[in-house]
Amino acid sequence: MSSPAQLPFADLNGVLKAAGEETRLRIVALLAEAELTVSELTDILRQSQPRISRHLRLLAEAGLVERYREGTWAFFRLGDRGGGASLARELVARLDPRDVTIARDRERLTTVRASRAAEAQKYFARHAAQWDRIRRLHVADDAVEQAIVAALADKPFRSLLDLGTGTGRLLELFGPDLERGLGLDMSRDMLTLARARLDRAGLRQCSVRQGDIYDLALPKDSFDVVTIHQVLHFLDDGARAISEAARVLRPSGRLLVVDFAPHNLEFLRDEHAHRRLGFAPETISGWLAAAGLDVVAQQTLSPNRKTEGKIAVSLWLGRDPRVLIAGAKEREVA
Ligand SMILES: C[S@@+](CC[C@H](N)C(=O)[O-])C[C@H]1O[C@@H](n2cnc3c(N)ncnc32)[C@H](O)[C@@H]1O
Repeated sequence: MSSPAQLPFADLNGVLKAAGEETRLRIVALLAEAELTVSELTDILRQSQPRISRHLRLLAEAGLVERYREGTWAFFRLGDRGGGASLARELVARLDPRDVTIARDRERLTTVRASRAAEAQKYFARHAAQWDRIRRLHVADDAVEQAIVAALADKPFRSLLDLGTGTGRLLELFGPDLERGLGLDMSRDMLTLARARLDRAGLRQCSVRQGDIYDLALPKDSFDVVTIHQVLHFLDDGARAISEAARVLRPSGRLLVVDFAPHNLEFLRDEHAHRRLGFAPETISGWLAAAGLDVVAQQTLSPNRKTEGKIAVSLWLGRDPRVLIAGAKEREVA
């Protein structure tokens, strides 16, 4: 077992003082579950915004939590590095989840997340019919699709899982070469359009069904390729979605993530239900690595002035490090 990080006396004292207050300990426990904004914490803890902001500032100063700003929103999460961060995780691990206060906070967190997801779902229900047009407003479709095909071209694959499949465009693109294509999405309206698209294309080997990207209800080691195309910026826990996607990859399987590069189009939050304004290369590479995948490619496509697309789009390719023995389809070596 690795020994715990050691801290100078003054730092340890600072961390303990910061965590040793009821609301702040509750905040630490909540941020161990999800990254949250001040207003979300205010809703859960039922305290005024200035009070919550003050607690967050003290926690951040002591290194227990991290704050990062993205446009007009600020997100908070448990720190990744440093003695304060590791102590925060140890404290949370020692909290009894059945404790009344902690259990009630988690229940409220679940409600906050559910209402956020319901808002996004309403958006997709309202916009499903125009989705393919909206998509072109932000992204130069053709160039991105060419890059997606090129990224996966080095090795043929027979099964594809497309997470947050929307209207099923990626299944249509790769379907003709697949033995099995499956698209999952939480929005029934999107799925109706995806089914119509697959029917029109005669892709009987492809199907779609309702599902949650965080909890795939699929066995591990079941797909050669998993794609997550323009979905992560709607989510509050991209790292968890990536780790769940990595779980269902077969040995040597590949996970392709496509999403916006960092941008400042704040209206996408208000009008298009986005939570994150794009991702830096290292953010998603870090999530892929944390999910146990090797990051084998990363590239960013700048928007082409001549097309409608306005935001740069990045691709990340992760590969499951387990190796399949040639000729032995299901056997693997570590
Ligand atoms: C921007 S669309 C992208 C659709 C498709 N991948 C594409 O690029 O056209 C995002 C999709 O993610 C789906 N989605 C959002 N959160 C989800 C979740 N938690 N589980 C499954 N699907 C989700 C939405 O319903 C929506 O269809």
